[in-house]
Amino acid sequence: MKESQPSAILLKDYKVPPFLIDKTELTFDLDETNTVVTSHLHMRRNPACGKSTQPLVLDGGEDIKLIGVAMDGYTLPSEEYRLVDDKLIITATADEFVLTCETLIDPQNNTRLEGLYRSSSMFCTQCEAEGFRHITYYLDRPDVMSVFTTTIIADETRYPVMLSNGNETERGKTDEGKTFVVWHDPFPKPAYLFALVAGDLAVKNDVFTTQSKRDIKLQIFTERHNIDKVNYAMEALKRSMRWDEETYGREYDLDIFMIVAVDDFNMGAMENKGLNIFNSSCLLASPETTTDDAFLRVESVVAHEYFHNWSGNRVTCRDWFQLSLKEGFTVFRDQSFSSDMHSETVKRVEDVSFLKTAQFAEDAGPMAHPVRPSSYIEISNFYTLTVYEKGAEIVRMIHTLLGEEAFRKGSDLYFERHDGQAVTCDDFVAAMQDASGVDLTLFKRWYSQAGTPVVTVTDEYDEQTKTYRLTVKQHTPATPAQPTKLSLHIPIRVGLISEQGDALTADFHNERSDDFVLHLKDNEQTFEFTSVHSKPIPSLLRSFSAPVKLHYEYTTEQLLLLLSCDSDGFNRWSAAQQLAVNELSQLIQQAENGDAFSIDSNLVAGFKALLEDETLDPAMVALILKLPSQAYLSELAEVIDPQAIKGARHFLKVTIANALAAQFADVYKKHVVMGKYQANAQDIAHRSLKNTALSYWAESADQRAQTAVAEQFKQADNMTDQFAALSIAVKTNHKSAQNMLTAFYEQWKAEPLVVNKWLMLSASQESDDALGAVKALMEHPSFDLKNPNKVRSVLGGFGQNTSGFHHKDGSGYQFLADQIIVLNKRNPQLASRLCTPLTRWKKLKPELSVQMKQQLERILAEDLSKDVYEVVSKSLA
Ligand code: TRP
Ligand code: ZN
Repeated sequence: MKESQPSAILLKDYKVPPFLIDKTELTFDLDETNTVVTSHLHMRRNPACGKSTQPLVLDGGEDIKLIGVAMDGYTLPSEEYRLVDDKLIITATADEFVLTCETLIDPQNNTRLEGLYRSSSMFCTQCEAEGFRHITYYLDRPDVMSVFTTTIIADETRYPVMLSNGNETERGKTDEGKTFVVWHDPFPKPAYLFALVAGDLAVKNDVFTTQSKRDIKLQIFTERHNIDKVNYAMEALKRSMRWDEETYGREYDLDIFMIVAVDDFNMGAMENKGLNIFNSSCLLASPETTTDDAFLRVESVVAHEYFHNWSGNRVTCRDWFQLSLKEGFTVFRDQSFSSDMHSETVKRVEDVSFLKTAQFAEDAGPMAHPVRPSSYIEISNFYTLTVYEKGAEIVRMIHTLLGEEAFRKGSDLYFERHDGQAVTCDDFVAAMQDASGVDLTLFKRWYSQAGTPVVTVTDEYDEQTKTYRLTVKQHTPATPAQPTKLSLHIPIRVGLISEQGDALTADFHNERSDDFVLHLKDNEQTFEFTSVHSKPIPSLLRSFSAPVKLHYEYTTEQLLLLLSCDSDGFNRWSAAQQLAVNELSQLIQQAENGDAFSIDSNLVAGFKALLEDETLDPAMVALILKLPSQAYLSELAEVIDPQAIKGARHFLKVTIANALAAQFADVYKKHVVMGKYQANAQDIAHRSLKNTALSYWAESADQRAQTAVAEQFKQADNMTDQFAALSIAVKTNHKSAQNMLTAFYEQWKAEPLVVNKWLMLSASQESDDALGAVKALMEHPSFDLKNPNKVRSVLGGFGQNTSGFHHKDGSGYQFLADQIIVLNKRNPQLASRLCTPLTRWKKLKPELSVQMKQQLERILAEDLSKDVYEVVSKSLA
């Protein structure tokens, strides 16, 4: 452990910057190991600070070497500046001056993948959140916005493509015969949006004509061998641009928009102004190598980064505590976009099951924090599901409270009022409130309070007076640093359904309808509906109108009725999930007690009806058939017994499979998609149902299913079907599973993104020596510790390997801890994210819990990065 531990940054300590940088002029003399960066910063004291004599303190990093510093052309002797804890401090400055800094950096050996680094044969950057300080000394904070001009100097034969933000304004030769290119970005921006790329890249060109008839040049760059895989991303980009004009009235501003794909990237993608940089896994797509899920992900990430041009770049964050200002809003925007492009219900079900599985778990664990955190040690640790996904739910609730039209007025006002500014979540809410007249004072607590509220509903119907009452209570459990909680303003969308399954109307607040939004504001409230002609079954929290855990004592009959009759598609799925969860909870209990498994026949009957009804949307049927995941059941459990959950799921799946083998076989055959592969909603739906049916059928005793799996693996002309067959073979211990895995690798070993899928599936394969198998994978020629995608594939796959990861001797946890310790030095952001499974230690059953805790303690004893230190120390607190 280090002598002194890193300290926390607090929201309440925010102060405006003492200096501003009006213009930033950068020159990069690119070299693999010795890149020289020269900056001219046109600075002045911030008038908002009043008269001040504060010294100039610029952020830097341990990995940059200061060559020299000058003020208005005068080279400072070493007594006139100091380097303290990575900061460059200059005590005496004028009110206005040009600061020149020369730094030396080593991109080739930058394994942290922030700042300027090398990926394959190219140079690229990642500056969010605090990467720019690893390039040059700067006021590296988002409320310092500057106009950037960037000159790139390189050897043109090796780096013919040289890109930065904005427009190319000049190009020529230096005295030494190198090429220089100048880029100018007229929009002031914080340093985190700076980007630079240089390499021998191929490009795909296109044009988008905006609503005001301006032609925008679109370019996607990749390494040469990948350029045939960007067509889908280009089309998705054009759809995004059109959608943002139509839905939010937002037009693109520069004359050129560029995207670059890189292989080594810590996250999904980055919205640098005019020059987005993408993890190649979120950009490249072709039918042969990419699954349906991955196509949809490419579309949504392209949209997400594009939408940031307004929600993030034109209007940015004042400080990093406000991260959800741009991320929550932009996730909401990309979710709405995908919903409009495909199926609204399917998209909502997918987003909500992700939220309920992963964000709810985060909110219940040691890293729980509000959507607007009030403190952090390392900001990279706060790019979380809470900030992104729960943040998006907050924006969605505002949309529900205001309605479509007023919400649009609010977003118009927000963009107009704050264009070119760095603002706060409060500013966002104020614009929504001012434009709509809806009071959001109480609602704002959603930003500052962590934890998932539990909402409990009871009801009564009075036959005599035809009155129906819903009594709703809320309670938010304590989270770290927030022992007591206040009540929240929770919009609860409710529908009423008769016992025959029809919509049931009622009077409520001078409105007669069968669908209402209730405003829960107190800890307990009763809502009264009148002129209700028969006893209703409530359809609660329709379309998941708030990110809460809902409790209502539904009978199995009521759930079956909602499953077949609710007009809200989301709640039909929700009812099915509840039925399956009820069934699985009993089975898990039986497994833990060592009792024999037994199930009710209701779920089987419900599934049978579903499989035999040909009028249903195949995508919905597929979603409903998917059993609650191991991860979701773990989130629901009070104490997690991974083996019991796995056993219960397996038993239920096999039981359903055997009871309905004929139906699954039938559905499997009916939903084969003919013709050329297309990633449209309809074909994706059919493939999804077909492959879900196969995953059941293959669990049954019907031997023909085994043949079908092997045939599909061999015959498939697209990755969705091929990989589905392979996964099913592995999960059901198909007799040829091993041969299929080998054949798959041989077929695809030249395609890294496919190899990653193979790595993940192989690492998740259960066996007596799962750990040995994973260790062998890390020695495999296709593995590379420098590449985050590969690390995540293997360790992520292993995390789902119940027998390997949760081995009772603790060897699985020890192995993960070993990797975290190695990566802590090389790539702290990646190492920190790999800690997530270990943060759940308190919820595991005691034998496993102690083993996991020991590994956290072992990690904590190391010399740790801020990233890993924060997660591990908070987990043990
Ligand atoms: N702003 C990016 C997004 O939401 C997130 C991101 C990309 C990021 N790369 C990063 C955050 C590196 C932290 C570190 O799309
Ligand atoms: Zn984002």
